[in-house]
Amino acid sequence: MDKLIVEGGHRLQGAVNISGSKNASLPILAAALLTDEPVRISRVPDVSDTNYMIQILSQLGASVERSSGTVRIESPDGISSSASYEQVRKMRASICLLGPMMARMKRCTLPLPGGCVIGDRPVDLHLRAIQALGARVRVKGGNMVIEAPNGLVGTTVDMRGDSGPTVLGTDNLMMAAVLAKGKTVIESAAREPEVVDLANFLNKMGARIEGAGSRTITIHGVEKLHGCEHTVIPDRIEAGTFMVAGAMYSDGITLNRVCREHMKSISDLLVECGHVVEYNEDGTSVFVKPGANPRSGKILTNPYPGYPTDMQAQMTALFAVTPGISVVKDTIFPQRFMHCSELKRMGANIKVDAGTAIITGVEGLSGAPVMASDLRASAALVLAALAAEGTTEIHRLYHIDRGYEMLDEKLGMLGARVRRELDPEGGPVEP
Ligand code: EPU
Repeated sequence: MDKLIVEGGHRLQGAVNISGSKNASLPILAAALLTDEPVRISRVPDVSDTNYMIQILSQLGASVERSSGTVRIESPDGISSSASYEQVRKMRASICLLGPMMARMKRCTLPLPGGCVIGDRPVDLHLRAIQALGARVRVKGGNMVIEAPNGLVGTTVDMRGDSGPTVLGTDNLMMAAVLAKGKTVIESAAREPEVVDLANFLNKMGARIEGAGSRTITIHGVEKLHGCEHTVIPDRIEAGTFMVAGAMYSDGITLNRVCREHMKSISDLLVECGHVVEYNEDGTSVFVKPGANPRSGKILTNPYPGYPTDMQAQMTALFAVTPGISVVKDTIFPQRFMHCSELKRMGANIKVDAGTAIITGVEGLSGAPVMASDLRASAALVLAALAAEGTTEIHRLYHIDRGYEMLDEKLGMLGARVRRELDPEGGPVEP
């Protein structure tokens, strides 16, 4: 199996560009199914999740061309309304095909996504939303068979679940509602910047969506959508990951193509923990370096604008080498702590209990062979490896490749010693 070999102890310095957002790109790519006219989407990161989505769209019958970050998609009439387990099992985010397929074809058959390592990951809220618009849902042979023979009809839907609003659930409902009859009101909508980016994309296609970014989104259904061009927002989690690298082990690094507004909770926590975070005037570039007196901290993950669950593993790596006791509680995915046992193999002092990690900072970590368990857990291991003494081998590299575009090249540009060792047997590369 491919692995990443990181030789620790080389302080980072220099500048890198942040890529377009993976989590904004995925629903936007799926939304291309809403029109038969061509759409052009720029700054789509070249990561395996966006590649899976592009493959699925092609297999459904769309024509897709990709060249240097720009994807052109044309979905003629007659595209398939069903995707197979083989096609979608590699990526949980394929659930966001549900909204556009229902809007365009009034029916779809999609495999029920299973759980994943970060938790149970149910889809009850997605199904409740599509049922509220008038669709009938059956489960057959592991598939969701969803039909709305009389079309979808707008209504008011509350998207709040036990753990707060759902991001892809809000996306799905918005995409289903844009071509529904009448008005749909989404209460307790997710406010994430990726939801706003999708709404902006849909409005460019001719949709009438108001209120994205707030708790209530109103959608007035339209007859038809048309083609458009769109540039995806910067990836705030990739930016946050590099910011943690800058705070953890650098002489100061600069990250370009960021959006300060989206980074507030991530930047604020680094500043609270004593690190230097300085944005340029228009907030598109940020300089980060370790503070002279780093302090421990507390994280309680929350939906946006709260602290993102997608950043807690990376901060745990930083806390592992920060003096004092830090506490990380994940309310969104309480089981998302697989990285902690691997960090402990590198010398970290972490106790995990009931969705909370208690981290007692140690003086230093030491390189070790470790296993990536999910995308953000693998990012945490890379960060720990950069600051550790000696060499770390990170196995199951495919997790990193799902969501970080050219991570090894970017770290190399900052002076890190990182190389990829390809499995001579060409071992499994899929999750
Ligand atoms: N939930 C339900 N029922 C549902 C859907 C969600 O109970 O029908 C629960 C989940 O179990 C969780 C909470 O609601 O406790 C929030 O989950 P959400 O639906 O918002 O997650 P998602 O939309 O499936 C996106 C990101 C994740 C990110 C979460 C939370 C994409 C492609 N994925 O997932 O990103 O962690 O929002 O912010 O946008 C990652 O990039 O590493 C990643 C996992």
